[in-house]
Amino acid sequence: MSAKIFDGRAFSEKIYESLKDRIKKLKARGIVPGLAIFSTQGALEAESFVRSKIRDSEKIGIMCRSVKLSPSIRPQTYTRAIADALKDKKIHALILIKPFPVGMDIKELESLTPEKDAEGLSPAHFGRLFGARDFNEIKEKRLIVPATALAIAEIVKKLVFPLKGKKALVIGRSNIVGNPAAHLLTMMDLTVTLAHSKTRDLKKEVGQSDIVVSAVGSPGLIQGSWIKKGSIVIDAGTSVVQGKLTGDVDFNGALKKAAWVTPVPGGVGPVTTACLLRNVVFLAERALQK
Ligand SMILES: NC(=O)c1ccc[n+]([C@@H]2O[C@H](COP(=O)([O-])OP(=O)(O)OC[C@H]3O[C@@H](n4cnc5c(N)ncnc54)[C@H](OP(=O)(O)O)[C@@H]3O)[C@@H](O)[C@H]2O)c1
Repeated sequence: MSAKIFDGRAFSEKIYESLKDRIKKLKARGIVPGLAIFSTQGALEAESFVRSKIRDSEKIGIMCRSVKLSPSIRPQTYTRAIADALKDKKIHALILIKPFPVGMDIKELESLTPEKDAEGLSPAHFGRLFGARDFNEIKEKRLIVPATALAIAEIVKKLVFPLKGKKALVIGRSNIVGNPAAHLLTMMDLTVTLAHSKTRDLKKEVGQSDIVVSAVGSPGLIQGSWIKKGSIVIDAGTSVVQGKLTGDVDFNGALKKAAWVTPVPGGVGPVTTACLLRNVVFLAERALQK
């Protein structure tokens, strides 16, 4: 068996297509959706994330401002730069790319940006997400959901039919990826297992799953031989190995067993960017209603 390779870029174009009308309507009312990206200089992975977000923003008509700061900037200066962007009426959404400046506490960052939080990490957005019971509520109520988790769910929705009764394994339990991804897949009627570093027998869990989502950041963690025949393998992990972006899954091994595999790069990444820019549009629409 040779799996099909999921084309994340082509899928992201469909999401952008669905945003065109919304952006046009906003512009007709004098609003250009605005995004500010905060990152620290020098991290290779972060640089590539920022570049793709700027490129796609420009393509679909979102104004994107990149704020690059020194990794050794004082936490207070970083917080002040964010506060300025929060006050700026042209900016509807912020994203804060890791690594954060030395000494900056992630908890502090999460509580900084609720009304312009494009990543859905602030408690208000998180509460709405975990209060939702049906996946369709995300679009209907314009919920702001962590973009990688949403990308994973959108890919599953595209590739798996029927969803009901299938077993999914999500590996990784962070608030930005694994935890919300497991909730979204549960809302889609999948039976979900959430694995992490203390999980006893990951190989067994992988072998029993119709859908495997890996969000760890450990190259080669998931071996091809573990994978159930005909399953769907979604690799959200990204690590830089010898200058190259690499996922968690043994890609060539997975191709021999699975039905579908997402590559790294070119799988979850472009869909994440599209989901994030959809959040920016949702936040600009909310600002209009105020
Ligand atoms: N494609 C994209 O657009 C995108 C976006 C965001 C993040 N990412 C990538 O996604 C990955 C995860 O990011 P994150 O922010 O969620 O990372 P994180 O906060 O470091 O979380 C990693 C998770 O992996 C678990 N883990 C570590 N080693 C494990 C093992 N041997 N077996 C099973 N689970 C293990 C950890 O378990 P414990 O909780 O027990 O420690 C933790 O829950 C990273 O590679 C990141 O670069 C990709």
